[in-house]
Amino acid sequence: MTYALSTLLITIRDVFLLVWNVTFKTILHLIRTLIPSYRNQITMEPLPPGNMGWPIIGETIDFLRKSQNGDFFKERYAKYGSIFRTNFLGMNNIHIRDVSHVKKVLLGEHHLVATCWPPAMRRLLGSGALATMLDPDHRQLRKLVRPYLNAEVLSSAKDAMVKCVAAELLKWKSAPVIDLYNAAKHLTMKCGCAVLIGENGLNDDMIDETSANFITFGDGFFQLPILIPGSKYYQATQAKKSILQTVYKLHRENTSKASIISQIYGATEDKVLRTQAEKDNFVVELLFGAQETAACTITCAVTLLEQNPHVFKKLHDEIDEFYKDVKQEDDNVETWILSKDFRVLGYLTNIIKETLRLFPPIGGGFRKILRPFVLGEYWIPKDWTITYSIQCMHEDSDMDNVTDFIPERWDSITQAAYISDFLPFGAGPRSCVGRDYALQFIKLALIMLVSTCRWKLQTKEPTFTRVPIVKPEQPIMVKMMDAK
Ligand code: HEM
Repeated sequence: MTYALSTLLITIRDVFLLVWNVTFKTILHLIRTLIPSYRNQITMEPLPPGNMGWPIIGETIDFLRKSQNGDFFKERYAKYGSIFRTNFLGMNNIHIRDVSHVKKVLLGEHHLVATCWPPAMRRLLGSGALATMLDPDHRQLRKLVRPYLNAEVLSSAKDAMVKCVAAELLKWKSAPVIDLYNAAKHLTMKCGCAVLIGENGLNDDMIDETSANFITFGDGFFQLPILIPGSKYYQATQAKKSILQTVYKLHRENTSKASIISQIYGATEDKVLRTQAEKDNFVVELLFGAQETAACTITCAVTLLEQNPHVFKKLHDEIDEFYKDVKQEDDNVETWILSKDFRVLGYLTNIIKETLRLFPPIGGGFRKILRPFVLGEYWIPKDWTITYSIQCMHEDSDMDNVTDFIPERWDSITQAAYISDFLPFGAGPRSCVGRDYALQFIKLALIMLVSTCRWKLQTKEPTFTRVPIVKPEQPIMVKMMDAK
């Protein structure tokens, strides 16, 4: 009797446990499947506020219409605050702009997040490009290229840079008027080819054609990756083919075997860039990086210097004083500019920082979330993407007169908070590999411009679009004159 009772009780207990288990697991499963994206089931932090838009397309149409001038993000900041969720280009996305959030994400590369640009950009850049490469290949390729792009090694490229800038400035001054951004792209392309590929017989038409191809290439990045002839994505794929034809030609004609691109193509047993296609993709990425970002910074700096004559004068005086002794011996800028290390010019550095603060060429980036984590009071779920905005982060800083061009502000900026609010080159394992190259080239170009030219904007109040890269909305026409 006792035995029968205990058996019955055990059976009831087991049935109860079974039912409880099944019910509990079913409810949990339902929560997970029906509302996986709205709340962390363990700690109950909610997802950031926002709207996921229509099924499948999400808010893609609004993104494509309004992201160029930043309105897509600004409208949502006004509605939801500095962190929100959305869906575009086929990705569930969380967008951030607070510096602490951006830093946590950028420094979390490889363990919290991984690179994840939109599908069209990934396909256009292709495997072998640093921006799309994952750990451990990413780490290895950065190690491989860093020695070619650090400030010490690049100082031997100054000579080639000076020759390119001098030749271009002569042309700028002899033209009745120049389209500043086009002229700057021509200059950066010419310089990029000379330094990264090596001395070559690149003529002006080829440079212009390649510059235009890079614009078409970049315009395909934030499109749907559909190969329909005539679409921006299709045009971008064709532009890449033309760019590669030019690169092959230049590489064949290159006389110096020491350039970075010669090294990349010459390597026979590279563990990271294994195939010809991967080498091609990395070369195109480097040239792309070297061209538009620096052209954009030069365009913005030249515009800001004209709009702020007191800044121009102060910079002119700084350069004049710094080179006073060497100029007396030889007044040819191509000679004296190389006689001293211009990295120490403080006001010039301030001007470049202030230009990059107001107009960061790369407005932000994309990451994929590798494991869920909490950001502020919100839950960030695995497999979503996260976008961060450098431009909005800069605008959101609590610096005085944050939208004004005040290079002097950098003299007194010692607070770590402000310095860390400034991330034009990104941060963490994916920060820009071309930073030293870009700063050396931009500094050198501005010294030569301010010392040998005067200019007048013919376009009143130029405006800029922001995506995928900062560029003038309308051509900025400039009359360049000789300084004497
Ligand atoms: C003013 C000039 C430049 C600015 C403001 C700039 C900005 C940036 C930023 C913000 C990133 C990080 C993107 C991310 O978080 O995913 C980046 C990455 C990169 N930049 Fe630049 N860049 C500049 C010039 C250059 C130049 C001259 C080169 C090539 C010589 C270059 C090559 C690259 C490459 C290859 C990456 C990808 C790095 C990686 O994923 O590990 N950039 N750049």
